[in-house]
Amino acid sequence: MRTRRAALAAMASAASLALTLSACGQNSEGGSKEDKGSSKGGTIGIAMPTKSSERWISDGNNVVKNLQAKGYKTKLVYGEDDPDTQVSQIENLITQGVKGLIIAAIDNKSLNNVLQEAADAKIPVVAYDRLILGTKNVDYYASFDNTKVGELQANYIVDKLGLKDGKGPFNIELFAGSNDDNNTKYFFNGAMSVLKPYMDSKKLVVRSGQTALNKVTTLRWDGATAQKRMDDVLTSSYKSQKVDAVLSPYDGISIGVLSSLKSDGYGSKSKPLPVVTGQDAELASVKSIIAGEQTQTVYKDTRKLAEVASAMVDDVLTGKKPEVNDTKTYDNGSKVVPSYLLQPVSVDKTNYEETLVKGGYYTDAELK
Ligand code: GAL
Repeated sequence: MRTRRAALAAMASAASLALTLSACGQNSEGGSKEDKGSSKGGTIGIAMPTKSSERWISDGNNVVKNLQAKGYKTKLVYGEDDPDTQVSQIENLITQGVKGLIIAAIDNKSLNNVLQEAADAKIPVVAYDRLILGTKNVDYYASFDNTKVGELQANYIVDKLGLKDGKGPFNIELFAGSNDDNNTKYFFNGAMSVLKPYMDSKKLVVRSGQTALNKVTTLRWDGATAQKRMDDVLTSSYKSQKVDAVLSPYDGISIGVLSSLKSDGYGSKSKPLPVVTGQDAELASVKSIIAGEQTQTVYKDTRKLAEVASAMVDDVLTGKKPEVNDTKTYDNGSKVVPSYLLQPVSVDKTNYEETLVKGGYYTDAELK
């Protein structure tokens, strides 16, 4: 009896020592060798915002492909643009024991509590395309140069209207993205840095008077919301005037704006469509560009973004330092999040073939 009890006690204390050791390992920077090994084949949770836009479907699939190629299992979830759904999805991923998280936030400020749970479970977090704000529990950020996206859209408008050649004045209306997406202000401020001088000199006129960011945002980037706002603006400010350009930050918004313009009679010889920008090179918008409706989009190769984000998680879990190229720009209110920013490219009718088709993003058949 005695011996058995002693043996049990010895086993218990060995087990508790093992537990302590493994806990130490997990607490140490990057984890112990064993932890790294076990994370390597583990499951990575991927939380994407919505399936309503095709880009996020490609993003999700590309991240899965990259991680599986590196030997991970994956769990991919979509929050259908509802912040509470996304929080509970991430909670579930944590409960299921994922080793890392890649998150494209729906509402950049709604994730603080759930990311504390991730931190408590020693799960590294990569913010995917959209920075998560107000928490130190986001390890890395993979995105594009978001200021440049806005600059590309605005410079396209400037060039197309011939503002540098002294042409004008022209009427322009401004649209911005969702106010709960951190990218929105980067896109908008980037664009305004280019447009503002022309607005100040009255070469660009915003007849609606809606120029402040909080007057032009589009909740959840919703095309129908943008369409409704464009309807209202056309009714209130363009009865006897024509709009010459629309700054749109995203293809889904551009499509909504174009629907509104077309129902107002734009698209004919006497009333041509204005210059309409966009972002994401979504299939519907590239087709619209080819058809001469939307004018421009900003192409962001989501295959590369998926590669960068997947490499970041893999590096953290295998004790390597992820490659970053920006350690200054993305202050999330709690810390400056080390980032890797890819380069966006302006695409219109003249270069879609070269960039999108030759680059393998779409086939000619898909664009027909
Ligand atoms: C942003 C993203 C854009 C666009 C938009 C709407 O966060 O940077 O490329 O996709 O969301 O989905």
